[in-house]
Amino acid sequence: MSPFLLTRTLPEDATDAALRADVLQGLTGMPKTLPPKWFYDAHGSDLFEKITELPEYYPTRAEREILVARSGEIAAATGARTLVELGSGSSEKTRYLLDALTGLRTYVPVDVSESALTQAGHALIAERPGLDVHALIADFTAGLTLPRTPGPRLVAFLGGTIGNLLPAERSAFLKSVRSLLAPGDALLLGTDLVKDAAALVAAYDDAAGVTAEFNKNVLAVVNRELGADFDPDAFAHVALWDAENEWIEMRLRARRAQTVKIPALDLAVDFAAGEELRTEVSAKFRKDGVRRELGQVGLELTHWWTDEEGRFALSLSLAR
Ligand SMILES: C[S@@+](CC[C@H](N)C(=O)[O-])C[C@H]1O[C@@H](n2cnc3c(N)ncnc32)[C@H](O)[C@@H]1O
Repeated sequence: MSPFLLTRTLPEDATDAALRADVLQGLTGMPKTLPPKWFYDAHGSDLFEKITELPEYYPTRAEREILVARSGEIAAATGARTLVELGSGSSEKTRYLLDALTGLRTYVPVDVSESALTQAGHALIAERPGLDVHALIADFTAGLTLPRTPGPRLVAFLGGTIGNLLPAERSAFLKSVRSLLAPGDALLLGTDLVKDAAALVAAYDDAAGVTAEFNKNVLAVVNRELGADFDPDAFAHVALWDAENEWIEMRLRARRAQTVKIPALDLAVDFAAGEELRTEVSAKFRKDGVRRELGQVGLELTHWWTDEEGRFALSLSLAR
């Protein structure tokens, strides 16, 4: 195997077809929605990296703190020879795992963002000449086929990204992850925890406006890919805490009544003044809920670690 392999598991036009289907369904439904995976073109991936450095955005720092403290235990508990990472982005925090997993042969980062995979992959092989990096451009919700690599396998899903899936999507996703695991393989899952609403909202509505720019980037993606004429300035960034569902919602609120044309779909979409388009949910978790959801797909939670302030959790669960 070459040290850095980049594989597209879907034909390029499948991404285009998926975007068309999501935009058609999401903008003709009520309320209007768009799935968060479309934030992450090259600019969106760069903006997300900026978000991770914002003072308000604690999840990255909290998860890093846990990885610094616990990567040795994770390595000892799993003995992984292959690390698969879903939604790997920059793979920045992954380096703590790569350092600790001394028997690791292959790293398989999986992401929809080709630019993030390419940048991270080239940096990693330069830093770690002995490591095979087999990156996959793929949608982790669409059923993954992984390359044949040595076990045991550790699948990591960091950053609290699991919170972006709605409950039904989450259970389907966890089932599909379980199907990738053989007995003795493990799942390392990062989950942001329920906490004070003000701290949560601030993390998604920073003073510098980077998250607002990230949120509006989905409009730029639809403009570029489908020829739409969204005016990003005609929408306001909204972040709110839904206490019943225990999730943050990001929305884009129309500042005035307007009609947006999407020529590639032969579609005109009317927005009333004040109408909101939901662009992301970010569910927050409690230990019992995480244990239950993992148990429902046959994964046994064996370790639960939080940062000092109890803001974020990493859990390890084993496939029997
Ligand atoms: C919230 S960021 C987290 C990045 C990184 N894991 C971290 O912890 O900083 C989510 C990442 O998942 C990727 N992503 C989002 N939806 C995806 C999907 N359906 N399939 C594959 N990757 C996806 C994005 O491109 C992005 O890199």
